[in-house]
Amino acid sequence: MRVIILGSAAGGGVPQWNCGCPNCRAARERGVGSLQSSVAVSADGARWILLNASPDLRAQLAAHPVLWPPRQDSRGTPIGAVVLTDGEIDHTLGLLLLREATSRLVVYAAAGVTALLGAEWPVYRILSAYAGVDVRTLPDGRAVQMADAAGEALGIACTAVPVARRPPRYARAAAAGAFDVGLRLRDERTGATLAYIPTAGAIDTAVRSVASGADLLLFDGTFWSDGELRDAGVEAPTAREMGHLPIGDPGGSVEVLPNVGSKRIVLVHINNTNPILREGSAERLRVEAAGIEVGEDGMEFEL
Ligand code: MLT
Ligand code: MN
Ligand code: ZN
Repeated sequence: MRVIILGSAAGGGVPQWNCGCPNCRAARERGVGSLQSSVAVSADGARWILLNASPDLRAQLAAHPVLWPPRQDSRGTPIGAVVLTDGEIDHTLGLLLLREATSRLVVYAAAGVTALLGAEWPVYRILSAYAGVDVRTLPDGRAVQMADAAGEALGIACTAVPVARRPPRYARAAAAGAFDVGLRLRDERTGATLAYIPTAGAIDTAVRSVASGADLLLFDGTFWSDGELRDAGVEAPTAREMGHLPIGDPGGSVEVLPNVGSKRIVLVHINNTNPILREGSAERLRVEAAGIEVGEDGMEFEL
């Protein structure tokens, strides 16, 4: 199974358009940054599954030749399906950028997210006037064989497990349901396993069930500390209020992740204020000392 990190940043990216924090300033000065949260995965190297569709999707597809149209002189895509881990803007806006598709977009999501995208954030209704959507709801905790629009199997089974978090800000009043999920993706031929949990408010039994025994865990690295946004001068909720377990606080992921039973751990969905983005910072060194890697755009893995 091949895995590519298309974007390692949380919502806003690095630099974020209106942010003057040290990380965003450095990214502007050096002309380097990171795109918003998304991953591509493939069992055969030819047909790919997108995990989340970021607002930077156009640049992300342009950057990776394996995601280019496979045939000359005709339209087409190696992307067989999209799987969403939540209904946030940073994970779903890219669906609208796929509107030129020549067949219906296959989108897998948990029940709560499927409902949101059909109502409060009407992506599916808008897309119905363009490529259309083949809406597929992921059941809680049961493996599903991923398949493309024609029903052809993509060689990967996906199990979605609801994780602790709250519905998106635009849908505070939404009925309770499964919004945020961790994904366990298993190559049906080789058994190689990716655990993908870009957002989680806790490392609990749900997270452990997704991560345990995985060859690679891509995990929520949004914030180092609970008050990080406020410390950066932004009037904002805390990390925990937003449903992100801080990495460095007592009981945070740098302490707990090493014993969830994943062979390799890489942080993704990293907010632009996070000090782990600075090479050599004390926070970065603590993460590395724990055997955890800091995700970057373009990182590739062969599982
Ligand atoms: C999140 O992951 O917490 C959201 O994407 C934050 C946001 O509203 O941008
Ligand atoms: Mn997000
Ligand atoms: Zn910033």
